[in-house]
Amino acid sequence: MNIRHILLKDVVSFGIGGEADIVILSKEEDIVEAYEYAKTNNLKLHILGGGTNTVFKDGHSNTLVAKMEMNGQTIDDSLQKTENTEDVFITAMAGEDWDGLVKYAVENNLWGIENLSYIPGTVGASPIQNIGAYGAELSNVVFSVRAYDSVRNEFVNMKKEECDFGYRDSIFKKNPNRYCIVSVTFRLLKNGKPVLFYKPLDKLKDKKDLTLKDIREEIIKIRSSKLPDHKEYPNAGSFFKNPILSRVESEELCKRYLTAPIFKVSNGYKIAAAWLIEHVASMKGVRSGNVGTWPAQPLVIVNYGNATFKELEDFSNTIMKTIENNAGIRLEREVNFVE
Ligand code: EPU
Repeated sequence: MNIRHILLKDVVSFGIGGEADIVILSKEEDIVEAYEYAKTNNLKLHILGGGTNTVFKDGHSNTLVAKMEMNGQTIDDSLQKTENTEDVFITAMAGEDWDGLVKYAVENNLWGIENLSYIPGTVGASPIQNIGAYGAELSNVVFSVRAYDSVRNEFVNMKKEECDFGYRDSIFKKNPNRYCIVSVTFRLLKNGKPVLFYKPLDKLKDKKDLTLKDIREEIIKIRSSKLPDHKEYPNAGSFFKNPILSRVESEELCKRYLTAPIFKVSNGYKIAAAWLIEHVASMKGVRSGNVGTWPAQPLVIVNYGNATFKELEDFSNTIMKTIENNAGIRLEREVNFVE
């Protein structure tokens, strides 16, 4: 096993993190070896994909970081036959770039992931937090996930139903680092329908001969205008989840804030965290030292310079405390903080 010592801030999009050992995973055997090495040497193991949703602490880490770099993707004809369907099954390895897969699907006229265009990160990370955007969620197109289960010490093929998907949640998120995702099989549609009910997309509704490419281009336009490019302004996308309120909580909030944007979802009432940050905490576009909320989308916190973990933690705690004190709502981090 080839172990290197690195600065973690160099391998994550937030640009924060101290020193640790890193090992590259290029094949299934590497995964088993990495878990064994970590166990023998009393290290925690952390599987890293693109590093676009992770923040490591400063200082020396007692973690062995295992970077997933298994690549490749194939169309699975045998599945198509056994499932007796017109759909197309694509298996992509965990280390593949997520947006590369979306681009491939769009160019090959396969429906299902176009609304998830331009999300940074890898295929292997996508089921962990069940990535979602513009009315689409990964779980809608996942057929199965292959992973190494470090508790059972074996590779497992999990059907979508076994993945326990929820809003930015899954069995993988609930059991951090128990599973190392190896590949994901997606079921895409040759003949799909556009999902355009999210506000910024509804202008495409009347477009004649709307193509997958039109949808992808529009989403890239929207995302580039609202979300900072992490190569220029290091960040990890949405920093918090959108909280789900009970009916009573949502009614209370509406009484105090007449314009609160609340959306009915299956398990309650979703309130936009960006709105809470802007209107309840008055912290849109606010900067504190090297960190700050992005002026065009305050749900994103950016690293404006050499931000430390402590700075980021304090700033995000201030946002959380202010919203809790003013509206009684507890925000939950969406970004992964790793010891
Ligand atoms: N809003 C404000 N002020 C702002 C921006 C937004 O009040 O400056 C309010 C508006 O009411 C707006 C609402 O927040 O309608 C929702 O904003 P937006 O549509 O931009 O999306 P979001 O709920 O803030 C979620 C995802 C994003 C995803 C977008 C698009 C989460 C935590 N975030 O953000 O995902 O791209 O929807 O569908 O669910 C990510 O996970 O990293 C991510 C970027």
